[in-house]
Amino acid sequence: MPLDLYGERKNSAGFEFGHRAALEDLMSKVTAPLAAIDAGPLVPGVRPSSETQPVLSPSDRSHQVGTVRNATPADVDRAFAAGRAGFAKWSRLPVEVRASALDKMGDLLEADRDRLLSLLAAEAGKTLDDGIAEIREAVDFCRYYAAQARARFATPELLPGPTGETNRLSWRGRGVFACISPWNFPLAIFLGQISAALVAGNAVVAKPAPQTPLIAFEAVKMFHKAGVPDDVLMLLPGAGEVGAAIAAHPQLAGLAFTGSTGTAQAINRTLAAKNGPIVPLIAETGGLNAMIVDATALAEQVADDVVMSAFRSAGQRCSALRILYLQDDVADGMLEMIEGAARELTLGNPAEITTDIGPVIDEKQKAMLEAHIEDMHKTQKVRYAGSVPEKGNFFAPHIIELDRPEALTKEIFGPVLHVVRWKAKDLSKVLDSIAATGFGLTLGVHSRIDQTIRTVTEALDTGNIYVNRNIIGAVVGTQPFGGSGMSGTGFKAGGPAYLTRFALEQVVSVNT
Ligand code: NAD
Ligand code: ALA
Repeated sequence: MPLDLYGERKNSAGFEFGHRAALEDLMSKVTAPLAAIDAGPLVPGVRPSSETQPVLSPSDRSHQVGTVRNATPADVDRAFAAGRAGFAKWSRLPVEVRASALDKMGDLLEADRDRLLSLLAAEAGKTLDDGIAEIREAVDFCRYYAAQARARFATPELLPGPTGETNRLSWRGRGVFACISPWNFPLAIFLGQISAALVAGNAVVAKPAPQTPLIAFEAVKMFHKAGVPDDVLMLLPGAGEVGAAIAAHPQLAGLAFTGSTGTAQAINRTLAAKNGPIVPLIAETGGLNAMIVDATALAEQVADDVVMSAFRSAGQRCSALRILYLQDDVADGMLEMIEGAARELTLGNPAEITTDIGPVIDEKQKAMLEAHIEDMHKTQKVRYAGSVPEKGNFFAPHIIELDRPEALTKEIFGPVLHVVRWKAKDLSKVLDSIAATGFGLTLGVHSRIDQTIRTVTEALDTGNIYVNRNIIGAVVGTQPFGGSGMSGTGFKAGGPAYLTRFALEQVVSVNT
């Protein structure tokens, strides 16, 4: 269902205002000053610590969006204790009650759209385009998982068996599930994990990224308003140590993680070292995403899709394009077009309608990107470096031509496009290089040759492959999202199997 953003309206004389007026109206709301938010743990009986930390806007470090009081190790214990009690009641409720709470959450998100857009821009540096897409995705997650739960969990499945025996398969919650999320989708991913865990019958302990606690705080309060009890969904803001304490907790029943591959590996080690029940880990991690372009591709479309995939959201999407493989016969012309398109991008205040690219999330991320470019300058050809506004954590789009694909071995999480040329006879070498990275999140192919498309898709295990289009912005229920190898465990978010990872299967066989 489309978000009612561009709704046509009439003035008193009956003339259509049209899209522009609706957008200007929205802009005035999104740029209006936000009331400062004082976020902290949301756990029954926990009094937030008196120690507050400022939350600063990435596009203007003099703008304090709010404050956060981080959770302590004792808060983690209290959250699990409360969650055990909450789980006992929540897991026994009919699926319909839990699914209705998610539908209600979707309604609340839509009703609060303008304030959420404003907060996404201020706290996470999201442009209006990205903010709208993120709210849409958050609403879709709520409604999709509600529908999936009704379809899969509401009625036990009767299985075939011998005469005189009935066999029933049913699904139930696992216990207290942890949801640990990144800053780059502080609403959609944060809330997507939580919705799935809740509707499957679990209590949830949620830890947002330290860069974006405010939007998480607001989202958890909205879940409570939607009917999820406060001992069933709890918030524990904090840095990695809080996440590590959650992962190590003896009462953890399962963990959904989205973030970097390194953190997922650390969590995996923590879980493996524990005695007691073996709990599931759902990890959605990084990528070294490639796009293969051959000489039959449509140059204008390639330029558009490359710029969108590499630079939109300041390249801060796990799905973003990192290595572009251009067939050498057409590489010069295509690069010229791509650079031309990159030059047209406007960096600036994310809440402005004219802005294409907002800031990167914090100083640490910016320093990492600067160090990468400095490093690349030593051995590779930096072809293009855009310019940035003076204030805020902005990082300009860069295009770097690599002499070999192995010159890039790790995910560079920002607006940096790496380009490698390949010869028509060497497609299999390109595929080997992509497979050798060990990542398998997104992949693009631009070609008009069916056999090339088949060869590429058959050769690689990449989770999401996009042909003759950009490689970002997976849609819930249409492009279930998630990778393989170092990019994640599956099952895919926004897909039909996802909920089952959060639930326990039980079979009752009765001899009648
Ligand atoms: P990150 O790994 O640094 O942090 C993610 C979360 O883990 C944060 O909440 C963090 O505080 C927590 N954390 C850190 N150390 C921990 C530990 N030892 N134990 C438990 N929790 C810990 O990632 P980030 O910088 O927030 O996000 C960017 C990364 O996320 C990129 O690599 C990106 O590709 C990935 N990502 C993947 C997907 C996907 O769907 N595959 C989606 C979005 C982002
Ligand atoms: N699901 C997000 C995308 O596809 C990460 O861009």
